[in-house]
Amino acid sequence: PTSVRRGDDGALVVAGVDVRDIAAEHGTPAYVLDEADLRGRARAYARAFAAAFADLAGADVYYAGKAFLSVAVARWVHDEGLRVDTATGGELAVALRAGVPGGHIGLHGNNKSVDEIVTALEQGVGRIVVDSLAEVDVVARLAAERGVRAPVMVRVTTGVHAGGHEFIATAHEDQKFGLSLTSGAARKAVDEILARPDLDLVGLHSHIGSQIMDLAGFEVAARAVLGLRAQVAADTGYLMPEVDLGGGYGIAYTGADATPPTPEEVAAALAGVVRRACAELGTAVPRVSVEPGRSIVGPSALTLYTVGTVKDVQLDDGGRRTYVSVDGGMSDNIRPALYEADYTAALAGRASAAEAVPSRVVGKHCESGDIVVRGVALPADVAAGDLLAVPATGAYGRSMASNYNLVPRPPVLAVRDGAVRVLVRRETLEDLLALDQG
Ligand code: LLP
Repeated sequence: PTSVRRGDDGALVVAGVDVRDIAAEHGTPAYVLDEADLRGRARAYARAFAAAFADLAGADVYYAGKAFLSVAVARWVHDEGLRVDTATGGELAVALRAGVPGGHIGLHGNNKSVDEIVTALEQGVGRIVVDSLAEVDVVARLAAERGVRAPVMVRVTTGVHAGGHEFIATAHEDQKFGLSLTSGAARKAVDEILARPDLDLVGLHSHIGSQIMDLAGFEVAARAVLGLRAQVAADTGYLMPEVDLGGGYGIAYTGADATPPTPEEVAAALAGVVRRACAELGTAVPRVSVEPGRSIVGPSALTLYTVGTVKDVQLDDGGRRTYVSVDGGMSDNIRPALYEADYTAALAGRASAAEAVPSRVVGKHCESGDIVVRGVALPADVAAGDLLAVPATGAYGRSMASNYNLVPRPPVLAVRDGAVRVLVRRETLEDLLALDQG
């Protein structure tokens, strides 16, 4: 979070709260989320898109709840002018519990259950993003049964492949999401929907990947969906009012990362391409929406761990590496193991003048791939009981956390103006045992 600084005696202070006080009161590991930082980022996206699209047909920013969603966070981002994108009935339930109006919620999913679609219809969700031909039929039938007209978008795979890791690129052909533009499946879904009186075709959707630093891929994908929209208008006379260009804007995890695009840069680039492409195509511009998750919540949180065992290991090349074990690991952050994601760490509870030595921060799980930070220079005097902070863990940390090795999941603690508030409490062994029916 941008509010992090070192206090007079060298300990980290986040939003006016000393991390030692957080650890003493709430324990570790813990995700510490800076409310003002998160709100500021949400507001920045809302403002940047409103400004860049003011002289076009306007824009909406949906916060992608998969990155991290709790009732408070859904409220905060909605307060700041964002809508909420959900991918499951669970995310949808949290957004609704937060009081986000159905019309400000979107529902995604390549394999939505009947229950999820029914909830979306009954709660008046503003857009159900259809992901297969079969789903067109299911949504139409469920809408007809309820006497409502379902607002739907078609998720189009444009062939653009972008992102920090192969597993998180979703718009190339050989993967499970969306309907292909080149094979004609997307067009087929559009025609099917237009033939159904129970469906209202709101627009087309494209999401090309995640942790993207270079905006060029969005421009190629935007042109592709705007082209399909123009083609449909030419053939049928129906010009879809909206286009969603997905999320995926990258963030800096370590000092070695490229500089991520700002909300203003993203909005300007997308507004530019929409304006130019629609002028070339001779169609009116659509209302545009986007779905950032990581770039809103990712930088707003850090994970606080307590150091346990410290080992000095001799490497094959003659060098040495210090293995610093912490009290969490792959159960609270699967990203290093899953995507070889890089993070950094800092000694959090005190300053140290000791020499910085090559270190690896590892977790407490029964796997050698249980790495928190692959490589970082930490003071040579790091010892059991020290606090470590790992920044930029707000996105896909708690939301992808597991109970591997029956480890209870850490709490999410919001900090603001010197005060701590528990957003999601720590799981207990009793919580875990309560699920076990003997
Ligand atoms: N919209 C759709 C349709 C998506 O599939 C995603 C992410 C987003 C929006 C939000 O993308 P973001 O702005 O957060 O990059 N677990 C992975 C990321 C998976 C992203 C999947 N879809 C990770 O930890 O890197």
